[in-house]
Amino acid sequence: MPSILSISLLALCIIGSCSAWYQPAVGTSWQCALDPDIGSLDLPVEIYDIDLYTNSASVIDQLHQKGKQVICYFSAGTYEPNRPDSAEIKADKADVGKSLADEGWPEENWLNIRSDRIVDIMKKRIDTALAKGCDGVDPDNVDSYDNGGGGFTPPLTSQDSIAYLRNLTTYAHTATSSKHRRRNPRTTGLGIGLKNAGAIVKDTAGFLDWVVNEQCVQYDECSTFQPFIGKGKPVFHIEYKKQSKNVTKDCFGPDTGGFSTIIKPDESDLPAAVTFCPAGP
Ligand SMILES: *[C@@H]1O[C@H](CO)[C@@H](O)[C@H](O)[C@H]1NC(C)=O
Ligand SMILES: *[C@@H]1O[C@H](CO)[C@@H](O)[C@H](O)[C@H]1NC(C)=O
Repeated sequence: MPSILSISLLALCIIGSCSAWYQPAVGTSWQCALDPDIGSLDLPVEIYDIDLYTNSASVIDQLHQKGKQVICYFSAGTYEPNRPDSAEIKADKADVGKSLADEGWPEENWLNIRSDRIVDIMKKRIDTALAKGCDGVDPDNVDSYDNGGGGFTPPLTSQDSIAYLRNLTTYAHTATSSKHRRRNPRTTGLGIGLKNAGAIVKDTAGFLDWVVNEQCVQYDECSTFQPFIGKGKPVFHIEYKKQSKNVTKDCFGPDTGGFSTIIKPDESDLPAAVTFCPAGP
């Protein structure tokens, strides 16, 4: 029995103005604040990318009332302590790989993204995002293939990451919930993006809705992320003042055409503090 929601969506689709999930355009402005204190809710941006767990549904409602869209961050590829489902993740030690001490996050461990159990846990996180009213999700740490395969045998590969993201994308795009309180009544499912993981850009730009990149100017690899722009999807780009030291280059450097760039203080953290790019170089 089709629901009233799906019938009205169908009607909108026939009229030609429907989007099943939030799909931001190239150049959409954003703020990324992953610390618990997200600072001002009044920045002149369309999107806030904030932590799924440290923010309440009422903060997301307030952002919606201010005309913002909200992307909710969680780590899809690592175990973190102190999340509501941390114990559930650790219940099967076979799914928990080597620590990220080398990457600077000693409390985290790579997860076995080949495990249907882990996929199911992440689908529940997507349910949480939907229930809180998020418009999209930002699943981090999907590049275990580039970090010793996470310490699993056989090592996790880029194909594993692509399959994992396909699963999560299908789920996010088609997710519906009677509890969802989306700003845009024409969307049902959630948008979902890639995070860094340059090696799988070409394999995922077709089905993911955006990519969040850190430090492509610093590492001179922004062209790697251009396939998203080519498909009309935004590249949400972060450089860090302490590491890069040149805002002009960060904002207008090689192959950054179309990017949505923000400057943050230091690569070790993503607090509310942000510098926006000037209008032109
Ligand atoms: C992903 O989806 C495929 C096809 O639906 C399924 O066979 C597989 O078990 C899922 N899980 C993982 C970890 O890829
Ligand atoms: C900053 O980058 C711009 C653009 O790449 C360049 O023209 C300028 O010389 C740089 N400034 C410094 C101080 O390096």
